[in-house]
Amino acid sequence: MEIIKSQFLVSSSKVTQCPEEDMPEFAFIGRSNVGKSSLINMLCQHKGLAKTSSTPGKTLLINHFLIESKQDAKQLKWHLVDLPGYGYARRSKSVRDEIDTMVRQYMLRREQLLCTFVLIDSRHEPQRIDNEFIDWLGEQGIPFALVFTKADKQSAGRTKQHVNTFLRTMLERWEALPPHFITSAETREGREELLRYLGEVMASVI
Ligand code: GTP
Ligand code: MG
Repeated sequence: MEIIKSQFLVSSSKVTQCPEEDMPEFAFIGRSNVGKSSLINMLCQHKGLAKTSSTPGKTLLINHFLIESKQDAKQLKWHLVDLPGYGYARRSKSVRDEIDTMVRQYMLRREQLLCTFVLIDSRHEPQRIDNEFIDWLGEQGIPFALVFTKADKQSAGRTKQHVNTFLRTMLERWEALPPHFITSAETREGREELLRYLGEVMASVI
């Protein structure tokens, strides 16, 4: 699949304000600063499309992007959604709760949401907050895939080690594992695999 056009559409503070068009939709979630906005820009090869920042807590709303892609001779229009990160300790509890509710309501009620990508920093040991969010998605029956980010920041061996540890600890609680991808917004590692997966998911519902 090839992305031929990407543009910012709208920011919403509630799921009820999100665009009404019934297009396939994919969302990106994960800890603050894990690289959600950077990954969207990398996938679209569009620098500055989603706002990134070295300080956590940059994305505060549900941000919709309209994507046009081409697969074989077929053109498709769909949405990518950049969400605020969870677990940013320097926000007040009330702001964190507000964002958490907004994100969870979006996930539960957005019918056109085909898959949520949960981003995990490939440099760290499994974090409780990631496991809790993933377990909640599982309990709610919300389809998701895992994306390990920032693979360029360490050796491939070390990334693999962290990914394997993460999947192993997940198997202590889960019967089966979701799809997973190893990516870097710097080197574009994982781009082709992710785009192929997006194409497959859309093909399965259209
Ligand atoms: P919030 O919106 O605050 O939740 O953050 P986010 O998850 O959208 O992270 P963002 O894309 O803004 O990236 C955070 C920081 O990590 C920025 O300084 C990025 O340049 C950096 N970053 C993101 N992805 C990568 C990557 O793959 N490799 C490297 N080296 N840096 C990355
Ligand atoms: Mg962001």
